[in-house]
Amino acid sequence: MKNFLFTVLLAGVNLVLGLADGEDFLCVQGTNSSAAPTPCLDSARSCYGPKFTEHIGLASRVDFGCGRCEPGLHFECEECQESGCNQPQDLGETFSCYNYKVAGGAVTRHPTLQTCFRSSHAGIICNMPSSSTDYRSTSGCGPCGEQAKQSGSCIECYSDSCNIIQTPEDRFRSQRRAKRSAVDCSAICPYR
Ligand SMILES: *[C@@H]1O[C@H](CO)[C@@H](O)[C@H](O)[C@H]1NC(C)=O
Repeated sequence: MKNFLFTVLLAGVNLVLGLADGEDFLCVQGTNSSAAPTPCLDSARSCYGPKFTEHIGLASRVDFGCGRCEPGLHFECEECQESGCNQPQDLGETFSCYNYKVAGGAVTRHPTLQTCFRSSHAGIICNMPSSSTDYRSTSGCGPCGEQAKQSGSCIECYSDSCNIIQTPEDRFRSQRRAKRSAVDCSAICPYR
């Protein structure tokens, strides 16, 4: 009897919410962005997921689930109200860019390439510093900020891994390499 009453009550709630009896509210849940939406256990009527930034990708600190974003994560988390609505959009092919940091008048490049994610309709864009001041991009993926582009402190390029520039470190390294090979030669080249 108790169960019967509960079922009747649940049916009533579902009617009020505009869902047919037994129709589940679905969300992608967990950390796998390609997983299919699955039924929510509680009475959630919203889904949440990581925000997608064009050319960069999904926010890394947010997973997928039923209900609402954690209050502290609103810059990185997104909510929606339809069943199954937090499925990530179709992505285009990934591409790569170098990351740079400009601090204390020095330009340094991160030793590894960054993978960049774009939606299927977006092109490839990388950005890089054009001088050793005022570059503030936190990623080499995507466009320069509007201001940085206008001031000329940042420049863009439009193909895979295109944003490679010679840093002072590179010049130092290639000079050292040249010097070392000169030394090697004097040791093995008796005619010099
Ligand atoms: C993520 O979900 C897809 C689709 O169900 C599946 O093919 C894939 O193996 C999953 N990946 C991981 C890491 O579980």
